[in-house]
Amino acid sequence: MSDIVLPKDLRKVLLTEEEIEKRVSELADEINHDYAGITEPLILVGVLKGAVFFLTDLARRLTVPHIIDFIAISSYGKGGDKRGEVRFLMDTRESILDKHVLIVEDILDSGNTLSYLTQNFLARNPKSVKKAVFLDKPARHEIPTPIDYKGFDIPDVWVVGYGLDFNEEYRTLPYIAEMIPRL
Ligand code: IMP
Ligand code: MG
Repeated sequence: MSDIVLPKDLRKVLLTEEEIEKRVSELADEINHDYAGITEPLILVGVLKGAVFFLTDLARRLTVPHIIDFIAISSYGKGGDKRGEVRFLMDTRESILDKHVLIVEDILDSGNTLSYLTQNFLARNPKSVKKAVFLDKPARHEIPTPIDYKGFDIPDVWVVGYGLDFNEEYRTLPYIAEMIPRL
């Protein structure tokens, strides 16, 4: 750990690669337990691009039948107008009608994105919809959004790594690090 050289914009490592691996494996155990006995594959729906690393690590530890799918969205109003409008840029390839769905997201901030996605998916009459979120910033919630599987709570700071970016940078770092705030 002590030998990680942080890129210049980053202040400190909040979650190491080892901590992440351990937690993701615990979440996979829970999911394997909860969906044991399902007769049709669980559809993991990852939200591009942030959730890619979490989804692939999680999926490789699942023993219940599952397939992976992705959506791409764009949230308007981040920063300025806080009521973020969510638009679909790419929908799932598979139909989710009558299927068990697990939405996989990188981080829960205001809750706008995940609550919109949950409503949208529920309207398609799936068998069930649950949510797995790698990071949660409880201090930032604006819309109550229950999560079924949560990696870690973090403070209200901008984090990067493990899929999370700052203007597309730092997504591929294997750890989660806190950015130095830009004033
Ligand atoms: P929400 O709709 O406000 O909950 O926003 C969730 C989205 O904001 C996430 O999917 C991320 O794309 C982005 N986001 C929020 N906080 C961070 C962060 O600390 N680092 C990187 N992306 C973040
Ligand atoms: Mg995102």
